Amino acid sequence: MGAPGEQRAAGGARILDGKAVAARVRAQVAERAAAFAARFGRRPGLAVVQVGEDAASSVYVRNKRKSSLEAGIESFAHDLPASTPEGEILALVQKLNADPRVDGILVQLPLPKGVDTNRIMDAVDPAKDVDGFHPVNTGLLAQKRPRLRPCTPFGVIRLAQEYGIELTGARACVVGASNIVGRPMALELLLARATVTVCHTGTRDLRAEVERAEVVVAAVGKEDFIPGDWIRPGAAVFDVGINRTAAGKLVGDVEFERAAERAAWITPVPGGLGPMTIAMLLSNAVDAAYLRAGVHI
Ligand code: GUN
Repeated sequence: MGAPGEQRAAGGARILDGKAVAARVRAQVAERAAAFAARFGRRPGLAVVQVGEDAASSVYVRNKRKSSLEAGIESFAHDLPASTPEGEILALVQKLNADPRVDGILVQLPLPKGVDTNRIMDAVDPAKDVDGFHPVNTGLLAQKRPRLRPCTPFGVIRLAQEYGIELTGARACVVGASNIVGRPMALELLLARATVTVCHTGTRDLRAEVERAEVVVAAVGKEDFIPGDWIRPGAAVFDVGINRTAAGKLVGDVEFERAAERAAWITPVPGGLGPMTIAMLLSNAVDAAYLRAGVHI
């Protein structure tokens, strides 16, 4: 696959067009899903579970279900009220684990207060863990033998590959150390042979760490948390943040305009890692279907 079209931000940086690359990934997923259906007589199946009605989660979940269907993946929707007892959520996960039509299970986070998230996520069959959040899949990634890989970090790697951004030997700085993005991102970058620093609330001099980095991944969830003038000239900037401003605009964690005057590459928000995350989820669902069918991918 050649590099996607070239677009530049006003500041000069080349735009990493997640929307365009995600469309290409989804087209490949659709081909593989169709081949799976022809071979096994059923479409790959993805169950998406939402508990409660967190507004942002509802948007993501709707998107995930719609994109599944468009890619030829069977979608199993389970919407439970916020008051659902933990035991019932657990029972649903166990039922989905046992359902042969279901290849992938995604439990949308955050779960309502009072629910033990680890207990629910640990109950997902690792073979169906399309989020890549189960300790088995995290452990495999840590041991450089990835199986099902967390969607957003995997999306960063795919985007970098599509644009020919060299990660081997690069000084990479991940800002944020969450289980969903920061930590698996560090493992993915390590797998890609970057030299990785992970920053978090205990980091003493964040600015110095970011200024050194040739690759910056921001996953903090705070509007304009990283000033643009911290970005090293020529760096590649992957902004995972999606924050709504007081004026209702969506922005990332990096101050975009000024960062784009220094970076060589930058992801927009929206239209960067958001669409890539969904595309990699669909890719994981088809991978899970093939793996469960005993086909080595
Ligand atoms: N909430 C925010 N991002 C994600 C994700 O990638 N997977 C799940 N399950 N929940 C999320």
